[in-house]
Amino acid sequence: MAEPRISSIDGKLAEEFAVPAHVEEVKAKMSAFATKHAAAGRRVVLITSGGTKVPLESRTVRFLDNFSSGRRGSCSAEYFIDSGYAVVFLHRHRSLYPYTRMFSTINVMDALQLTSGSSGEVLVNPQVLPNIAKVLKKYQEVKDGGLLLPIEFSTLSEYLHLLKAAAQALSTIGPKAMFYLAAAVSDFYIPASEMPEHKIQSSNGPLQLSLNMVPKILSPLVKDWAPQAFVISFKLETDAAILLDKARRALNNYRHQAVVANVLDSRRGYVVVVTPKTQDELILTEEDVKNEVEIEEMIVSNLTSAHNRFINQQVS
Ligand code: PMT
Repeated sequence: MAEPRISSIDGKLAEEFAVPAHVEEVKAKMSAFATKHAAAGRRVVLITSGGTKVPLESRTVRFLDNFSSGRRGSCSAEYFIDSGYAVVFLHRHRSLYPYTRMFSTINVMDALQLTSGSSGEVLVNPQVLPNIAKVLKKYQEVKDGGLLLPIEFSTLSEYLHLLKAAAQALSTIGPKAMFYLAAAVSDFYIPASEMPEHKIQSSNGPLQLSLNMVPKILSPLVKDWAPQAFVISFKLETDAAILLDKARRALNNYRHQAVVANVLDSRRGYVVVVTPKTQDELILTEEDVKNEVEIEEMIVSNLTSAHNRFINQQVS
């Protein structure tokens, strides 16, 4: 099916996707963040992370969701910061978050103990929270340095409007901006004009849904909103046989810099970084797994080198 014309995407966003009330305020914050860090000689990466929620009713009781945990995005944020970047972390509410992600499966009450005196002091059991002191130190350094700007979304509409605002905010720093679009975004939605206001009644019988196609936001992002930035999209498939072809097609269609291709079941240990001229397979070995190496470290290292080359090409 033909893509909607780029100029029509802005109109579609405004008409069919509810605009979050705080979008201008968030845009100003992102803009100030980007300007400050670029002036200090830092590059800025916008990471999208987690899945989107698609409401079925405007007073939402039910919605469509997807599998994404936000691990890829949150983990990558830490490696980007270690590589000298400042990070705008556009993430799904309650998905995994940099640094705290390591303790996400732990019940914090099991890690704490009251001291015996009457002072009410609490001790942390490092066996329940391994490496907590090291991670806390790093987290506090990042916070004190103002290197991480977290922005939350829940619904598809919030994601789309906030991504547009982020792209426009970061466009002011040109090629120093990177977009790392790791969120799993819904391809389908119900336009606000066609959405029932109230809870869909099961007494009306089986539910048949008709969903519209979400406009591919990569298109205006690359061409209009942040045309000088270094843009990486992700491609997820469950059938490995079609993955690389789809990744190449995305590069051809959108003319951005790279696609990180992954298959659902093997995404923690194997990805391919595809660019117009190269195809790098990144694989975790058994030794890597034993040493708790994460594939995001390899992805970030690959892409920060490519970003270096991209910036150097612009100035030469
Ligand atoms: O969060 P985890 O559990 O760690 O999982 C990580 C991940 C598998 C979600 C991640 O590695 C990944 O592959 N994310 C992208 C998944 C996806 O939505 O693929 P897609 O083929 O549907 O979209 C391709 C690209 O187009 C994405 O970069 C997306 O940002 C972009 N897109 C999608 C929809 C849309 N309307 N506009 C877009 O621009």
